[in-house]
Amino acid sequence: MNAVITSFGSYLPERVLTNEDLEKMVETSDEWIFTRTGIRERRLASSEESTASMGAEAAKDALKKNDLLATDIDAIIVCSMTHDYFCPSTASIIQKELGATKAACIDIQAACAGYLYGLSIAKAWVESKAFNKVLLIATEKNSSFIDFEDRTTCVLFGDGAGASIIQNTGPGYSIRSISLGADGNGNNAIIIPAGGSKQPASHETVDKHLHSIKMSGKETFYHAVKRMAEASLECMKKEGISKRDIAFLVSHQANIRIIEATAKRLNLEKEKVISTIHKYGNTSSSTIPIALDELEHEKRVGHNDLLLLTAFGGGFSWGATILEKVE
Ligand code: ACO
Repeated sequence: MNAVITSFGSYLPERVLTNEDLEKMVETSDEWIFTRTGIRERRLASSEESTASMGAEAAKDALKKNDLLATDIDAIIVCSMTHDYFCPSTASIIQKELGATKAACIDIQAACAGYLYGLSIAKAWVESKAFNKVLLIATEKNSSFIDFEDRTTCVLFGDGAGASIIQNTGPGYSIRSISLGADGNGNNAIIIPAGGSKQPASHETVDKHLHSIKMSGKETFYHAVKRMAEASLECMKKEGISKRDIAFLVSHQANIRIIEATAKRLNLEKEKVISTIHKYGNTSSSTIPIALDELEHEKRVGHNDLLLLTAFGGGFSWGATILEKVE
């Protein structure tokens, strides 16, 4: 028996930051950003909103769509690279906000691949009967870790949250094989250098802008396509399926060129590729659950359709999974 995602939820902050807005902030252009990344605009959280508050809103949406109460939830997993605090966990803040008094709480960090890592934990917990109802939340306030003077990163990221509820029976999306991987040799390619125990915050780290995301774009691009394609093929092999069996590719949304190059390596037709990058940018771990929530809302997925999910991010870390719609 496979664990099932029985509902999705999402939350996007209201404030829209367009490429034209960015043209006034750094030396860039709508044309450069759109042709290099596929992004037209992204959402930014307000100063009152946090990674936890956005995650709680996405969770409320998922609970409502599943007719569940917060007190029905047995465990909360939060994946994020922009937690409110190092301690306490974002999951415990969300637990309090929801009133999910019964839920065990844990945060995990696998950057943009976090949702797939989280899904593997939720699946294992449900299938081993450790917990019956798991709330998995991917939430990111990337704007708190962006240097809005650095044009190589500030045009790429956005804020937002996605949530999923995982149970042992449907209807919903059955979680079939999952492939996960990592390569620590890439750990300098996407990094927030200061603020952790290695380089605690100081006047110097602030002056040097070391609390914001630094990324080697080209290196990341190359490894992202390679690893997402490999993980996807591994997953399809485990399932004994081919590209013809895939209804939709829901890939991490970092750059439309990465998504299209991955689809090309997998020989998947353009019509099967789901994209939200133009309107939300890269919301790190939350891109996939946000896209899944929209896909479900649009009712485009039919009974027994297979979705291929794949993600790549800091670490480097990556993964892929196959979901099957079950009624
Ligand atoms: N506007 C205008 N020019 C710019 C901008 C900008 N916003 N940013 C960079 N440039 C310039 C560069 O300075 C460079 O100029 P130069 O040739 O004079 O030095 C030129 O544009 C080309 O820069 P490249 O870095 O070669 O551009 P590239 O085509 O590689 O695109 C990008 C950059 C969009 C970052 C791309 O490499 C990319 O998407 N990489 C992967 C990102 C990713 O996958 N992230 C996922 C993981 S994120 C996570 O886990 C948190």
